[in-house]
Amino acid sequence: MPLSFAIKGAQLLDELVPYLVATPANLRHLNLAPFGLPVAAEHVIDPLRMQSAQFLDLLHKLDGLTFGPEGMPMPKWVFYDCSELPGAIYGLARPAARVWPKVKQLFAIPDTYTGLVPVSMYVAIPMPQRGVWFGHNLSSLAPVFRRLQLLDDLDLAGLGALTKGLALKCFGVEQFWGATQWQSKALYIHVKFGPLLLETAYTPAHSDHETLTYGFAVTEEALRASMGDPTIVLPRPDASFWVESTDVAAMIALQDRIEAGGRFCIPAAPRATNAGGVEIPIAQLG
Ligand SMILES: CC(C)(COP(=O)(O)OP(=O)(O)OC[C@H]1O[C@@H](n2cnc3c(N)ncnc32)[C@H](O)[C@@H]1OP(=O)(O)O)[C@@H](O)C(=O)NCCC(=O)NCCS
Repeated sequence: MPLSFAIKGAQLLDELVPYLVATPANLRHLNLAPFGLPVAAEHVIDPLRMQSAQFLDLLHKLDGLTFGPEGMPMPKWVFYDCSELPGAIYGLARPAARVWPKVKQLFAIPDTYTGLVPVSMYVAIPMPQRGVWFGHNLSSLAPVFRRLQLLDDLDLAGLGALTKGLALKCFGVEQFWGATQWQSKALYIHVKFGPLLLETAYTPAHSDHETLTYGFAVTEEALRASMGDPTIVLPRPDASFWVESTDVAAMIALQDRIEAGGRFCIPAAPRATNAGGVEIPIAQLG
C-alpha cells in the first residue's frame, strides 16, 4: 500500500502516478512526497519551459473535458496567469506508454508523445496570509470515463477526493477557501474534509451567482478523512435547516443572514429530496 493508512481508491495508486506543475520558485515551498507518496523528478513540470507545452496542453484539455459541460472551461491564459504561475497543480496521470487506447483517442494524443496523460488535477493559489490557499479547480475524468464507458477494468471511484486530499498536503495548506455552485457534485467531496464554514451563500461577484464560498482548517484528520481513512470520524454539527440546491430565494435569505453577522456551515453531504432534487444541510453556529 503506497500510503500508511487505508484510503478509498487505493487501487488508483497502483495504476496512476502523481505529477506536479510549479515554477522552480514555488516548488521550493511544496511537499514533494505528500503522505510519503513521492512525485518523481521527471513528473515535476515547469511551466516556464517550452518542453512542458504538450503536457500543459493536455491539462488544458482535461479542464475542457470536465468543466466544459459545467459551462466554465478556463481560457488558456487564465490557466497560465491564475494557476501555473502563481499557484500549483497536483494530480494523477498515466504514462503515455501505458495509457488506455480509448483515452488516447479522447485526448487525441499523437503516437510520438511519451510523457504523462493526466486524469485528474487540483489547482490552488496561495493567498497573502501564510498557509492560506484558495482552491481554484478540481477535475476528475472518472465521470467522463464512466459516461463514455472508456474503462471496464479500473474502478476510478474516489479519484476526485484522493486528488484534492493529496494536493492540499503537497501545497502545505493550513486554511483553505473555495467557491463552488450549490448544484455541484463536488460538494460531496468538499464536505469530506469536515464542516464547511460559509463566507457567502449567494455571490453576485461570481459569473454564476448561485455560488457559495466556503472554508475549513486543513488538519491531518481532515485530509485523511477526505481520502476515506475509516479510522477518522470528524465532528459535525446537526443541520439547523436545509437549502434546496436550486432555491435562489433561500440562498439570498442565507446570504442576508451571513452579511448581518450570522455564522453558518455545511456540516455534511447533500441528500436527495422526494421531488427528485438535492438539498444541502446548513448548521447555524454560535
Ligand atoms: C466533481 C468531480 C471532481 C468528482 O470527481 P470523482 O472522481 O467522481 O469524485 P469521487 O469519486 O472522489 O467522489 C465523488 C463523491 O461524490 C458522490 N456523488 C457524486 N455524484 C453524486 C450524486 N449524484 N448523488 C450522490 N452522491 C454523488 C460520490 O458518491 C462520492 O462520494 P462517496 O465517496 O461518499 O461515495 C468531477 O465530476 C469533475 O471533475 N466535475 C467537473 C468539474 C467540477 O465541477 N469540479 C468541481 C468544482 S468546485
